[in-house]
Amino acid sequence: MPGLQSITPELAEKLLAKAREAASKAYCPYSNFHVGAAILVNDEIFTGANVENASYGLTICAERTASFAAVLAGHKRFDAVAVSCVDVSDDQAKLHPEMLMPCGACRQLLAEFTDPETVILVDRAGSYQLKDLLPNAFRLVSKPSE
Ligand code: THU
Repeated sequence: MPGLQSITPELAEKLLAKAREAASKAYCPYSNFHVGAAILVNDEIFTGANVENASYGLTICAERTASFAAVLAGHKRFDAVAVSCVDVSDDQAKLHPEMLMPCGACRQLLAEFTDPETVILVDRAGSYQLKDLLPNAFRLVSKPSE
């Protein structure tokens, strides 16, 4: 089944609430920037939060831990995704909405399991489709011949 191209306001709010809730699980002693993500697959919601490390580059974003939870439960196609950066104040969010957006690496990771039209809800920034966030995503459709 292709990812959802649109989503009811009720479902959007439910998914965003799960993302916000998941942010409380973040391990982020270095940035103190809690991020939560929620992924809808059929009637199930998988959540994730960012997990940092003293070796900073090892940090894993919320979108990726949520994706891995869904994949490890056996799912390869996501219906919709929500992300929430809960530590950004409303004033900051208005001034710098980019603080709410998924990073580039996570956009590519999500492209693996979504369709270009799949809804990506960004808390307090709006509803996007994957293709808005990552036009011309890299996809390995077939392996190049050796
Ligand atoms: N972070 C995410 O979890 N997702 C993103 O899309 C952007 C950034 C996390 C990584 C790091 O723990 C903290 O936010 C600050 O960059």
